[in-house]
Amino acid sequence: MEARAIVVTSGKGGVGKTTTTANVGAALAKLGEKVAVVDVDVGLRNLDVVMGLESRVVFDLVDVLEGRVELRKALVRDKRVDGLYLLPASQTKDKESLDPEVFRDIISQLLEEGGFDRILIDSPAGIERGFRTASAPAEGALVVVNPEVSSVRDADRIIGMLEAGDVNENFLVINRLRPDMVRRGDMLAVDDVVEILGLKPIGIIPEDEQILVSTNMGEPVVLKQDSLSARALMDTARRIHGEDIPFPPLEDRRGFFSALRRLLGGGS
Ligand SMILES: Nc1ncnc2c1ncn2[C@@H]1O[C@H](COP(=O)(O)OP(=O)(O)OP(=O)(O)O)[C@@H](O)[C@H]1O
Ligand SMILES: [Mg+2]
Repeated sequence: MEARAIVVTSGKGGVGKTTTTANVGAALAKLGEKVAVVDVDVGLRNLDVVMGLESRVVFDLVDVLEGRVELRKALVRDKRVDGLYLLPASQTKDKESLDPEVFRDIISQLLEEGGFDRILIDSPAGIERGFRTASAPAEGALVVVNPEVSSVRDADRIIGMLEAGDVNENFLVINRLRPDMVRRGDMLAVDDVVEILGLKPIGIIPEDEQILVSTNMGEPVVLKQDSLSARALMDTARRIHGEDIPFPPLEDRRGFFSALRRLLGGGS
């Protein structure tokens, strides 16, 4: 991706934005980029917890936005991998204290003076001010979507809002895919999601209990296990980094809609 400031967003809550931000951020740093992951979920911060950095947070984004502390003092360096930094959100202030224009300045400061190659911005769920702030400085987006109807519908709305806000280099991250369910026609297939949303996928991440294990341990899967999800998240970062990584063949690309068509007697 050309975009250096990338918002990770979804519309619907709980689909994997924070997981994606932490892992893709760590993976990009492993590939040699200088990366800042930025938590905009003010009031509900958890990127620091997922990354296992919560005990090292002293200052946060709102301290910077309100001028109490210099930007570089609020950055937490991740000691496990070179070039990885966290800009934490505040746990106490509510979302309204975040001004999109000031946030835009902070991100350009990181890019211009901080020497960062890539900024990943973890957006709060919803389409309110928090989303608008998170997407204000972004040139591109990772739209995280689960293969289910409500998530796809919310993603569709978010894609429209991103484009209206001039965020244009946008890709899908399809998360929590279960090939067995797709095969049975009980879950939307990748092709269905891509066709409905009209965006290219850059990541296809399987459902994997290792994600939960790693979240509880505060260690992104890409830094530790060699699990299916770790590989898929690493591949996602490689594609963002510019490598041409094909998607592994999915066992069965026929999904819910083809199953439905078959049921209705239309063949597939
Ligand atoms: N591929 C996956 N396989 C299994 N569990 C997952 C996967 N991705 C995310 N999860 C789990 O789903 C839950 C929600 O993930 P996460 O916090 O990343 O979502 P979110 O979109 O950031 O949520 P919110 O909208 O509340 O900020 C977490 O418990 C996480 O461990
Ligand atoms: Mg989150």
